[in-house]
Amino acid sequence: MDVYDAVTSRRAVRGFTDEPVPMDALERVLAGAAWAPSGSNLQPWRIYVVTGAPLERLKKLATERVAAGDPWDEREYEMYPRELKSPYAERRSAFGKERYSALGIEREDWEARQRAAIANWECFGAPAVLFCYIDRALGRPQWSDVGMYLQTVMLLLRAEGLHSCPQMAWSQVRKTVDETVQPPDDLMLFCGLSIGYEDPDVSYVRTGRAPVEETVTFIDA
Ligand SMILES: Cc1cc2nc3c(=O)[nH]c(=O)nc-3n(C[C@H](O)[C@H](O)[C@H](O)COP(=O)(O)O)c2cc1C
Repeated sequence: MDVYDAVTSRRAVRGFTDEPVPMDALERVLAGAAWAPSGSNLQPWRIYVVTGAPLERLKKLATERVAAGDPWDEREYEMYPRELKSPYAERRSAFGKERYSALGIEREDWEARQRAAIANWECFGAPAVLFCYIDRALGRPQWSDVGMYLQTVMLLLRAEGLHSCPQMAWSQVRKTVDETVQPPDDLMLFCGLSIGYEDPDVSYVRTGRAPVEETVTFIDA
């Protein structure tokens, strides 16, 4: 698959079939993604892949917690600044509108939004999830390394005919994830990445992007 095709065909898929993800494909993807760059080659990502019975158990525990109105685990990092300035606030609200209108959910329908959110902890039906951890002692440049690594994983998954959805939502129930993967104490969960084959029957709206002129400046004179 051409790199441009991998980039443009990747999207956050929120409906997967239950067809198992071949382990050899996952192993190829993770061996390839290990070549992602990182400052001083620190390779600050630490990955746990969960499938099968442990994943079913985790989905059950997490969704039960959420359905019971259990409060989120206290945060180890802020997902977004409390006050999101322009143009980010507008982009976030445009995304929310697109996402909920695709699901036929009214903006004020809190219960329906809640039900849609619960799908996060069911991995949107995906039979595999990767959890990405980072050492608490590392700083912002290493978080950026982790982002490059995750994008490399997502693109290589496309080359295997697979799709994915990155999910910070998993950090809201991070202690439940920790119980399953039992990471060393110095690691903290950044996000999950659900992995599987797309369910073509699940409707979606393709997210847009700001015009390139808004985010890129060429200085050539
Ligand atoms: C770090 C990160 C965390 C995300 N967390 C979630 C999440 O918890 N749940 C979700 O449904 N989508 C999540 N997304 C997906 C974004 O909403 C999505 O990437 C964005 O709207 C752009 O759409 P696209 O990926 O389909 O092009 C996350 C994406 C990133 C990069």
